[in-house]
Amino acid sequence: MSEYLSEYKGKTALVTGGAGCIGSNLTRALLKAEVAQITVLDDLSAGQRWNVPDMPSVVFIQGSIVDDEALKKAFANKFDFVFHLAAHFANQNSVDDPEADLMVNGMGTLKVLQYSHLNKVNKFVFASSGCSVYGSQAPLPLKEDFVSLHLDTPYQINKLLGELYCNFFHNYYGLPVATARYFNVFGPGEIPGKYRNVIPNFIWWALHQKPLPLTGTGEETRDFTFVDDIIDGTLRLGVIPEAVGGAFNLASETETKIIDVANIVNELTDNTGGVNFVGKRDWDKISRRRASIAKARKAVGYEPKTKMKEGISKTYDWITANRDRIETSATFEV
Ligand SMILES: NC(=O)c1ccc[n+]([C@@H]2O[C@H](COP(=O)([O-])OP(=O)(O)OC[C@H]3O[C@@H](n4cnc5c(N)ncnc54)[C@H](O)[C@@H]3O)[C@@H](O)[C@H]2O)c1
Repeated sequence: MSEYLSEYKGKTALVTGGAGCIGSNLTRALLKAEVAQITVLDDLSAGQRWNVPDMPSVVFIQGSIVDDEALKKAFANKFDFVFHLAAHFANQNSVDDPEADLMVNGMGTLKVLQYSHLNKVNKFVFASSGCSVYGSQAPLPLKEDFVSLHLDTPYQINKLLGELYCNFFHNYYGLPVATARYFNVFGPGEIPGKYRNVIPNFIWWALHQKPLPLTGTGEETRDFTFVDDIIDGTLRLGVIPEAVGGAFNLASETETKIIDVANIVNELTDNTGGVNFVGKRDWDKISRRRASIAKARKAVGYEPKTKMKEGISKTYDWITANRDRIETSATFEV
C-alpha cells in the first residue's frame, strides 16, 4: 500500500456520485485504505445500486445533491473527506437538457460546498473535467494555468462554474479544496449507455458484432486515462497538503487516436463489424487532447501506470463479467 494511503485509515468520507463509474471505484479504494465509514450519496439517475460495494462500512443514501433533505441526511455525519463526483454527465446530455445540467453541476456543487463548509470537512476534492475547462483553442500539452472562456457545451460551462465556486469557498471561507481535472476516464465500473464514453460503448457494440460509430475522421485524439490511475491521483489530492487550493490535471499524458481505440476493441472482441463514419457532433470542436501532468507529478507524486491496451482489456473483462446486469440496466440500444 502506498504510504499516503495510511492517512485515510479510520477516517470518514462522503462520495457524491458513488454509484457511478469513477465514484464506485473510489469507494472501493477507500474501503481498501481502511476508511472507517464511507457515505455514498447518489440519486441513481445514471449510476446503479449494484455498482456500490455492499459492505457494513458503506452507507448508501439514495438522494439528490440538489435536495436539502438528502444533503441533511448525508451531512448528519461528520466527514474528514468529501469527494464531490456527482454530476449530470456529460456534453451531449447537457446539450439535450441544459437546465438539468446547470441545476446539478452548478447548484448541486454549490450546495455540496455549503454543507461541506458547515460540516468543517478536512478536505474537499472536486471532480472537474480537463476536456471542459480548456476549451478547444488551448495549446498542447494542456497546462493548468490556461482556462478558456470559449466553451462549447453547458456541461463544459458548468464544470468551470464548479471550479469557480470551489475557488470561492477556498479563498473566502478557507475550505481546503483540491480540484482534479480528469481526462477521458475509462475502466471497470462504467456501464455503456446513450451518454457514456466511447470505450465502454465501443466494447458493447463490438460484443454485439456491430460496426463502431466514429463521430469524426477517427484521427481525432484524446488523452485516455485508466480509472485506477485517476483514483490514485484523486486519493493523493485528498491527503497531500500541497494540493490545497490548486487544480491538477489527472491524465495519461498520451494522445490516442479514436480509430486506434476502435481497432483495439474490434481485435479484442473479434468483431467483424468494422467501423462506421457517422458524422461529427455539432458541439465537438476538439480535435486533439493531451495534458501535461507535470504539476500533479511534482505536487503529489502522481504517475499513471496503465497502458491503453491493458486498460481496454480490463474494461472488456468487467463488461463481459457483468453482461447480464448491464443488459438490464443500460439505457442503451445496439
Ligand atoms: N468519466 C470521465 O471521463 C470524466 C472526465 C472528466 C470529469 N469527469 C467527472 O467525474 C465525475 C464522475 O464521473 P463518472 O464518469 O463517474 O460519471 P457517472 O455518470 O458514472 O457518475 C456520476 C454519478 O452521479 C450520480 N448523479 C447524477 N446526478 C445526481 C444528483 N443530482 N444527485 C446525486 N447523484 C447524482 C449518477 O447517478 C452517477 O452515479 C463527474 O463529476 C464527471 O463530470 C468524468
